[in-house]
Amino acid sequence: MERLNRRLSVAPMMDWTDRHDRFFLRLLSPNALLYTEMVTTGAVIHGDRKKLLAFNSEEHPVAVQLGGGDPRELAESAKICEQEGYDEVNLNVGCPSDRVQRGKIGACLMAEPELVAESISAMKNAVNLPVTVKCRTGIDDLDSYDHLHRFIELVASAGCETFIIHARKAWLSGLSPKQNREVPPLEYEKVYRVKSEFPNLEIIINGGITEKEQALFHLEHVDGVMIGREAYQNPYFLVELEPLLFDNSELLSRDQVVEQMLPYIQSHLIEGGKLNHVTRHMLGLYHKQPRGRLWRRHLSEKAHLSDASSRVLLEALAQVRGELS
Ligand SMILES: Cc1cc2nc3c(=O)[nH]c(=O)nc-3n(C[C@H](O)[C@H](O)[C@H](O)COP(=O)(O)O)c2cc1C
Repeated sequence: MERLNRRLSVAPMMDWTDRHDRFFLRLLSPNALLYTEMVTTGAVIHGDRKKLLAFNSEEHPVAVQLGGGDPRELAESAKICEQEGYDEVNLNVGCPSDRVQRGKIGACLMAEPELVAESISAMKNAVNLPVTVKCRTGIDDLDSYDHLHRFIELVASAGCETFIIHARKAWLSGLSPKQNREVPPLEYEKVYRVKSEFPNLEIIINGGITEKEQALFHLEHVDGVMIGREAYQNPYFLVELEPLLFDNSELLSRDQVVEQMLPYIQSHLIEGGKLNHVTRHMLGLYHKQPRGRLWRRHLSEKAHLSDASSRVLLEALAQVRGELS
């Protein structure tokens, strides 16, 4: 099995890291491992697979994130995802939303390490891909380092070799998912400690990384960094990280990225898609750049119109280049 390089990855984000976003991110970062939005086992098994799981071949390496709490269904879903061509299957043990808790999905599983271990073992038996876990440092009052240690130990003994740890606990009630990404304090030390106590496991740290220096610092303690919101809101951050983390980066300017998106957008429109499906992910490309606000404004105002064509993108590009008033 080919080992994936997880020094840099972009986090799974519902409604954000869809296939269009991932195509765009791949232009910015030739090396990052990209994650899908979470897909539930119910949707994988009973839903429109082609629509849910389809991706562009350019996205590789790409990992699918599954949401589920039933080992048999997880194993079946993992198999389907392997057949679709994904490079990794990841289990979501970090999402605290009420909706997913009812289906025994996400962060609530941190209270059931035995069930997670059983699920990992079932998935590993079903596929030849790496099976990984994305979790928190704890939930509710199960937030001691000892609980985290025990969780990792049990799940690793079922065959999970890679853990992505969002370095904060989650409150299962009382906080919205958004608050659960902001309110509980970051606990990077706990993640470093996991790595030092389980040196053979691959430990990826996630949460609050917005600066190159932070990423480099984490990499002195753990095996990789996973970037979430910053990769979406300021995607050019990935271009800044690439040469620091990899030798073989071929980096594009912002304008080149836009130009390389044009053929992709053109085929999307020919297939009946809307411009905004793609360009909504590109709003942050000129974050903090001169005239970046013009780019964002032009796309926000025009790209959703029913007859919007790639001309809208070219106009926005001309504005940000200062070629149009
Ligand atoms: C809009 C949005 C959707 C998210 N959806 C998921 C998800 O589907 N699965 C998951 O494990 N985490 C999800 N997350 C959490 C991120 O993967 C990540 O753990 C979190 O944002 C912390 O990283 P950051 O501080 O770099 O953003 C989501 C985050 C955001 C902002």
